[in-house]
Amino acid sequence: MRVDTPLLNWYDANARTLPWRALPGALANESDKDWPYRVWLSEIMLQQTTVATVIPYFAAFIARWPTVASLAAAPDSAVMAAWAGLGYYARARNLLACARAVNGRFPTTETELRKLPGIGQYTAAAIASIAFGKRAVVVDGNVERVVSRLFAVDAPLPAARPELYRLTDSITPPARAGDFAQAMMDLGSAICTSRAPKCPICPLRTICRAVGDDSYPRKSPKASKPDRNGIAHWIEDDDHVWLTRRQGSGLLGGMRGLPGGGWDGSPLPETGRNLGQVVHAFTHFRLTLAVHKVHKSSCALQPDGEWWPLDRIEEAGLPTIFAKAAKLAIRETTNV
Ligand code: ADE
Repeated sequence: MRVDTPLLNWYDANARTLPWRALPGALANESDKDWPYRVWLSEIMLQQTTVATVIPYFAAFIARWPTVASLAAAPDSAVMAAWAGLGYYARARNLLACARAVNGRFPTTETELRKLPGIGQYTAAAIASIAFGKRAVVVDGNVERVVSRLFAVDAPLPAARPELYRLTDSITPPARAGDFAQAMMDLGSAICTSRAPKCPICPLRTICRAVGDDSYPRKSPKASKPDRNGIAHWIEDDDHVWLTRRQGSGLLGGMRGLPGGGWDGSPLPETGRNLGQVVHAFTHFRLTLAVHKVHKSSCALQPDGEWWPLDRIEEAGLPTIFAKAAKLAIRETTNV
């Protein structure tokens, strides 16, 4: 099936303008030596996160750390705080490890890229093709949807992945592979949408085997997310709140947070006055976090914590679940 010609023609006229992109037909690394850094940063941010959410974070990172060397030299705490709200914090820890590993210059092949922290099959293929013009097979969620429709793939996800990869390989051209990948992504986001795809204006409508049918990709029934419960402690003193830093490389590891526990295997610390609860969906479970106001004399303050001024709480870089808890606690303690 010849997909690249109509698709690239469509892309030349309709490519989204995105801050990490070169113009169609131009290679990222030819226009600016720091462009591979921008492609890499954007691809890490775009794993699991939408373009609209990523754009302001991407702009803030580039303004603060314009080169990979400047990011490598940044303190861990500054990068983790700048990442707050994007979720999947292992990405931020790997981001720093990768920035420090590349020594100012990214390798240009998929094989070398894959050796770096946080770079898997998709990301290596995306960087090799978009930043360095190498032919690579780039399959993200958008591409899976487009390809499953183009070929009317009846096997459900996730089992269909190897077949979708093979089919994407079969339509990826030798030249302009980066544009081809981004054209597939743009087509998936603008036209070949999950629901109500705009088939009548699709550049691939004459070759697509699923025109008008949005039941692809087929999906195996999803397991429902288990519920977990936890408690966060709101400990105030003199217009400051006690924040801790979460240890290790597990969930939210390296990020600031509220003390407490229960939801991550630690004992449920039932103490203090319940101010209310907040809910957050993580990848593998749904967390209901009760926020308890606790007097500082009634608990042992962890040694790695700090008193944070309440009027600067937005600058603490709290991950979303704790930002929601802080908002609730501030509302509940100032109204009574
Ligand atoms: N999602 C992941 N990478 C992307 C890119 N380069 N352009 C648009 N959407 C994307």
